[in-house]
Amino acid sequence: MTTHDHQATAEDFHAVAALYDDAMEGNNSVHDLVYPKVYGEGEYVGQFSDNSAGELLAMAAAMDLPPGSHVLDIGCGTAPVAALFADRFAWRVTGIDVSATPLAKGRRRIADAGLGDRVRLVQGEVYQHRFGQLFDGAYGTGAFCHFDPARLFARCAALLRPGGRLAFMERVRTGEFTEREWRHLTSEWACPTVSTTEEYRTALTGNGFRVEEVRDLTATFRDWQDRSVVVRRELRDEIVALTSVEYYETSVRLADYENAVTKAGKLGYALVVATREVG
Ligand SMILES: C[S@@+](CC[C@H](N)C(=O)[O-])C[C@H]1O[C@@H](n2cnc3c(N)ncnc32)[C@H](O)[C@@H]1O
Repeated sequence: MTTHDHQATAEDFHAVAALYDDAMEGNNSVHDLVYPKVYGEGEYVGQFSDNSAGELLAMAAAMDLPPGSHVLDIGCGTAPVAALFADRFAWRVTGIDVSATPLAKGRRRIADAGLGDRVRLVQGEVYQHRFGQLFDGAYGTGAFCHFDPARLFARCAALLRPGGRLAFMERVRTGEFTEREWRHLTSEWACPTVSTTEEYRTALTGNGFRVEEVRDLTATFRDWQDRSVVVRRELRDEIVALTSVEYYETSVRLADYENAVTKAGKLGYALVVATREVG
C-alpha cells in the first residue's frame, strides 16, 4: 500500500485534534496578546501561522483567482485567514478543520464579520470529508506541517479543478536537525515531518501539480521569531496574569528554542504556489 491509497481514519488525526482542542486553549489568549505586537499595527488578524497579514495577502495574490472563486482553507483553525480572503478578494471560502474548539471561535468570527454568505466552516478531516464539488483553489497556512506532503497533495489534486491553484506557507528544513530537535519539531507538535522545498516540489510534481513559485520567507520568519521572544519578555506580567509563571517560562523557552534552530540555519520558511495540471 502506498501513502496515496491509505484510507485515513479519524484516529490518524486524534493527536492533532487533541493538540488544538485542549493543549492550545490557554494559548489563544496569550496569542492574541503577543502577536499584534510581533507583527505590528493591522498585521495580526488572529492567524496561528507564522505570517503577517501582508504575507497572507501576498500568498492569496499569488494564487491569482478572480472574485467569486471557491477556495478551500485546509486546517482553517479559527478561520482568520478565510475571513481575510473572503473580505479582500471576494472569494467564497470553505474552511475545514478537525478540531472543534478553534472552529467554534471561527464560527463566531465569521458571524461577527457578516461573512456568513461567503464563508462556510465544516468540522471534518480533509481526506474523508465529502465536499461534493471541485474547488478553484486550496491553501493552508501553518497547517500543512501536520500532513504527509505526498498524501495531502494527492488529495488536493482530487479536490481541485484542472488549472486550480494550490498555495501554502510553511516551515522548511534547511539543515540537519539533531534527534532532539527533530522530535521537538515533529512528534511533539503532531507533525509527521519537516520537508525541504525540494521534497515539497517532488511531492507536488509527483501528484499532478506544476510548481509556479517557491518564495523564500526565511528572513522575515527570523524577524517574527526574534520578536516573539522579545515581546513575550516585555509582556511577562500580563502573560503570567492570564496563565501562570510556568506557562510563561515554557512559552519563552519554546520560542527561544525555535529561534535558535532557525538562527543555526536549520529551519526556514517558504511560500509555495502550484497549479493542478490539466488532464
Ligand atoms: C497552526 S493551526 C493553523 C490554523 C489556521 N490555518 C491559521 O493560520 O490560523 C493548524 C490547524 O490545522 C488543523 N488540522 C490538522 N490536520 C488536519 C486535518 N487532517 N484535517 C483538517 N484540519 C486539520 C488543526 O486542527 C489546526 O487547527
